[in-house]
Amino acid sequence: MKAIVTGAAGFIGSHLSAHLLEHGDEVVGIDCFTDYYDPRRKEANIAALRGYDNFTLHRLDLLTAPLTTLFESADVVYHLAGQPGVRGSWGEEFVPYVNRNVLATQRVLEAARDVSLWKVVYASSSSVYGNAETYPTTEDLRPQPVSPYGVTKLAAEHLCELYRVTAGVATVSLRFFTVYGPRQRPDMAFSRLVDAALSGKPFLLYGDGEQSRDFTYVGDLVTGLRQAALSPWTGVANIGGGSRTTMNEVIDIISRLAHPIDVVRLPVQRGDVRHTAADTSVARDGFGYTPHVLLEDGLAKMVDAARLVFAVDQV
Ligand SMILES: NC(=O)c1ccc[n+]([C@@H]2O[C@H](COP(=O)([O-])OP(=O)(O)OC[C@H]3O[C@@H](n4cnc5c(N)ncnc54)[C@H](O)[C@@H]3O)[C@@H](O)[C@H]2O)c1
Repeated sequence: MKAIVTGAAGFIGSHLSAHLLEHGDEVVGIDCFTDYYDPRRKEANIAALRGYDNFTLHRLDLLTAPLTTLFESADVVYHLAGQPGVRGSWGEEFVPYVNRNVLATQRVLEAARDVSLWKVVYASSSSVYGNAETYPTTEDLRPQPVSPYGVTKLAAEHLCELYRVTAGVATVSLRFFTVYGPRQRPDMAFSRLVDAALSGKPFLLYGDGEQSRDFTYVGDLVTGLRQAALSPWTGVANIGGGSRTTMNEVIDIISRLAHPIDVVRLPVQRGDVRHTAADTSVARDGFGYTPHVLLEDGLAKMVDAARLVFAVDQV
């Protein structure tokens, strides 16, 4: 299997690339190393991949790169590149969200239409649901995003469905529910919590901590991505971790695994949803997705990995 991974240097893209390489797939990564967070972290993310003979990386922007040529010999495109982050998507900052999430996806789909790919797997988001009316949430609930980020992820998902139905591009859109694990993006809550626990710096908690999320371990997610790519199944499916936990509970677990955390409580932020919970039966029945990693175990892996980085930084 020859796979293109867009966003290969990012948090999820680097884990996915490693997973594919471990399974013997050839991986062609595409990433333009945006400065949404320190690009040196992205260099570090892909450092381990450079040891594989069947890994190549192209530093290209999906908005301008000649994608058809790159896609010609591929079997699958995992389209993970994008502009993440709910809170920063308001106001003037909306422009990169439209460019990197909507326009870039349209270019990927146009190129996919020109060649004969087995599958395009798109990284959608639970943010498309907004404040869902029912939990666990099923895919047939009407999406009502409450952030500009969620609107762009939904627009790109609609593009995937449009090209699937009208142009015969075999797309799968997977709605990821908050993904965590080693190398998680530095703006995400778990990453900031682990950093606070190890450094003693305060952790800024938005809201009362009773907001809950369906947290998905990155190892479970990348297994599901490959399963979705290999199967003949197409369409839209949730990918969750199988348990719903509040931020206050997560703070307790990380405090136990590392050190007590100094929590500074701040008002809830615009665009943050109160709860998320995934019904994953479509993914289970469609391509065999089953999450295995319990939150406490996944957090322990994250803390262990961060400890190593922290120790190196202290030297
Ligand atoms: N992390 C989560 O919990 C989560 C949840 C739902 C959906 N997602 C989606 O999953 C995907 C990956 O998320 P992540 O957390 O790994 O983010 P990330 O920022 O770590 O990775 C995204 C990568 O895409 C690259 N990129 C952005 N625009 C590009 C372009 N035009 N051309 C080439 N490269 C480009 C960036 O440089 C970055 O390395 C995103 O599409 C995100 O919206 C993530």
